[in-house]
Formats: sequence, C-alpha cells, structure tokens
Amino acid sequence: MTEVSVAKEDRAANGELVVLKSVNKHFGALHVLQDIDLTIARGEVVVVIGPSGSGKSTLCRTINRLETIDSGSITIDGKPLPAEGKALARLRADVGMVFQSFNLFAHKTVLENVMLGQIKVRKVDKAKAEEKARKLLDRVGVASQADKYPAQLSGGQQQRVAIARALAMDPKVMLFDEPTSALDPEMINEVLEVMQQLARDGMTMIVVTHEMGFARSAANRVVFMADGRIVEEAVPDQFFSNPRSDRAKDFLSKILHH
Ligand SMILES: Nc1ncnc2c1ncn2[C@@H]1O[C@H](COP(=O)(O)OP(=O)(O)O)[C@@H](O)[C@H]1O
Ligand SMILES: [Mg+2]
Repeated sequence: MTEVSVAKEDRAANGELVVLKSVNKHFGALHVLQDIDLTIARGEVVVVIGPSGSGKSTLCRTINRLETIDSGSITIDGKPLPAEGKALARLRADVGMVFQSFNLFAHKTVLENVMLGQIKVRKVDKAKAEEKARKLLDRVGVASQADKYPAQLSGGQQQRVAIARALAMDPKVMLFDEPTSALDPEMINEVLEVMQQLARDGMTMIVVTHEMGFARSAANRVVFMADGRIVEEAVPDQFFSNPRSDRAKDFLSKILHH
C-alpha cells in the first residue's frame, strides 16, 4: 500500500465528511470566497456567522453546487462534487438545503412536497414515500397539515416542512442558510427546536444563523467569516467569551448589544 492511500484512509477514519480546500470564487471583480479551507466531520454541527455580504450564502451554495467555484476543491465523503446529470441530482439529495425563504412547491400539498424527491431522485415507490413523509411530518410537528398547501401554513410550519422534505432524502449533511431570518419572532423557536433535535440525533449540519443561543447550545464549532475569508474558528464558548480578531469583536458587539 502506498503512503498516499494510507493517508487517505486515515482521513476517512477521522470521519471527515465535507472538505473544502483553497476554494476561491469570484462574482466578476468581487472575490467572494478567498482561499476557504474548511473541514466538517461526520456528526459535527458548525455554525457560520459573519456580517452581511461576507460570503456565507455563497459558501453554502458551492457545497451543493448551486454555484461553481473558480479554483480549489470540494469533496463530500471523499468524492469531488459531480458537475451535472443524475450524479448532481443525487448530490443535491445528499446535501439537504434549507433556505431563508421556504422554497416549497406552491401547487403541491405538504405531503406531496415531502414525497416528490424520494420518488423522483431516490426512486422510492409511492407507498413507501408516503409512509416516510408522514413520519417526518410528525417528527417536525406538522403531521396534521399534510393535506394543506404551503400558503395555508404559517412561516414556521412551512420551514419545518422544508426541513422534513430535505430529511426525506436521507441526506449526509444538512445546510441551513438563515432558516429563521424570515420568520415572525414567535415562530423562530419552533424551527430552532427541530434543528436542535436534529443536531442531538447526530446529523452533520452547517448552519448560517445569527441565533447565538442556538450556536451556543448546538454548535461544536463556530466559523466567523468576513470579506470572503474565514477569519476565526473556535468552540462556541471560546468564540463568544474571547473572540481573538477585531472583526469578530466588532461583529459580536453589534449583534449582542443592539
Ligand atoms: N449571483 C451573484 N452575482 C453577483 N454578486 C453576488 C451574487 N451572489 C452574491 N453576490 C455578492 O457576493 C457577496 C457575498 O454574498 P453572500 O454570499 O450572499 O453573503 P452573505 O450570505 O454573507 O450575506 C455580496 O457582496 C453579494 O452582493
Ligand atoms: Mg446570506
């Protein structure tokens, strides 16, 4: 066995699931992701925070290839992201994504929203897909809404359906991009509680959020971004009580004392 293959096995044994190496991305002249190195272990919950425009959403979008990168590499479970076709559809299923806007199919019922991907991408038969969808809707607390259309639900309920829909694909990792930012305050906690439970169940999660309570209680690690770079990473306690960079200190003073 060569040294190279031994090194690869060591990494797999460590349980690295998502690995970004020297990732760069431009939008025209704007260098939106600058030499990003980030490794997420299996079962790890990483909260990404940082000022608006720092590249957090773009980072999420590159991980399921909603955006391409200019240089560097991204692997999931040791495999580079596929560029197109069925392999790309499977990747999008492996990487569940929940956005700020709920992105449900408006003309499908809640139940159909959670069944569709299972049938189309995972080739699950209809009865099995329905059984699983009902279980997941129950798990996120909206089982009684199954036959309604998204517009008939509250924002918090719709976001929980969006989480159930992503989970129905048995994703390897879940990405959340400010999942509670568009919600009325009284609905934020019901969504955060579902995410907390998911974290406790061992799901690998990358969560962009300004909910510092969630970061403190659920995150294994906080990644602070500014101007397209990862400026600082630390365990939550250390990050919140003793941020090292001026950028992080400045950011925290703004969000914690407004
Ligand atoms: N599709 C795009 N085309 C051009 N510029 C973009 C695009 N998407 C994002 N940007 C710019 O890239 C920067 C980072 O955006 P984004 O990743 O959304 O940051 P964040 O999520 O941290 O607020 C911002 O300056 C934004 O205006
Ligand atoms: Mg964003």
